[in-house]
Amino acid sequence: MESHNAVNDLHLTVKELSNVYEELSLLYKLSDLFSTLNVNEICENLVNEAITTVGVKTAAVLFLNEKTGSLYTKTYRGDWDANRTIDGEVEVITGALENSKPIAFCKLEAVEHQDNLHGLQSVMLCPLAGKGKTLGLMILADKLSGDEFFSNDVKLLKVISTQAAMAIENAFLYQEIEELLLGTIKAFVKALETTTQWTAGHTERVTMYAQGIAAEMGLDEKQMERLRICSLLHDIGKIAIPRDILNKKGQLDSEEWKEIKKHPLVGVTILSGLKSFDDILDGIKYHHEYWDGTKGLFGLKGEAIPLMSRILAVADAFDAMTSDRPYRSKKNISETLNEIVELAGRQFDPGVVEAFQKWLNRQRPAFLL
Ligand SMILES: [Fe+2]
Repeated sequence: MESHNAVNDLHLTVKELSNVYEELSLLYKLSDLFSTLNVNEICENLVNEAITTVGVKTAAVLFLNEKTGSLYTKTYRGDWDANRTIDGEVEVITGALENSKPIAFCKLEAVEHQDNLHGLQSVMLCPLAGKGKTLGLMILADKLSGDEFFSNDVKLLKVISTQAAMAIENAFLYQEIEELLLGTIKAFVKALETTTQWTAGHTERVTMYAQGIAAEMGLDEKQMERLRICSLLHDIGKIAIPRDILNKKGQLDSEEWKEIKKHPLVGVTILSGLKSFDDILDGIKYHHEYWDGTKGLFGLKGEAIPLMSRILAVADAFDAMTSDRPYRSKKNISETLNEIVELAGRQFDPGVVEAFQKWLNRQRPAFLL
């Protein structure tokens, strides 16, 4: 009898150890899956991981709309309606949210007020609980094996949801900080533009043209984002140039040009203490280089000039030529484009000019003519 108990105990210990091992491996895997700061990616990974780990037909991530208190579908896989929203009347869900605990329901038809979960046989719910507030809910339904949910399934869902909630909260926080930073940059740039007569809106337009070129050239999301910041800040160094030079009505003399030409380097100096701008400093520094290596401020040539700078050079020149200056009137779009095309291979990167031409021709009917 004693030896039978010992075997049983050993069996239990092995099972517990195996569960702990499974949980630890899962945690290790999740730390990698949720290491991104992209909310959509985290949710996709969450749904896929939950489906594989627990072995279910359906998984959905619902986010809480703080204003209305209802839940809307963010991501899903399986037998789920993308437009499905769930309000406070669904008791099984509000119960899980209020208690901040996962719940499993078998034979869902026996539960009242479950119209929004129509078509599902058994479900398991787990709130996505951030620090101090609920972000949403994870729903898993119907195991592939046809079994009901066991306590170990609930435990796995809890582990996955907890890690995902932390990652989603971090990503939201990152987005907030990024928006704050961008808002500050825009205010900074606007302050610069309002002190000069002719640069109003220049930065915003250059940013738009640069984004158009980048999209045409197939730059990825991350590169597009960095280019956007770089475009917004490319002329920030002009803050140190005397206003009477920036606002001069006549042609600039050579001394005044010398002052103007300092602005890329001044911009770099201003931003060099800020870690978030490390990877755009070269883009700013070299935005007045010439593709053929002549006339630039630093003598860089061809692809040695950072791509961001080559894109900015075209966007910047186009906006400068199509805007009025105190000492000359603006040119029309076709004339400017022809001039830029002629300068491809000399002042500008031919690949960038080609991309700009394509983008511009598509945009012209909409807002440029
Ligand atoms: Fe510039």
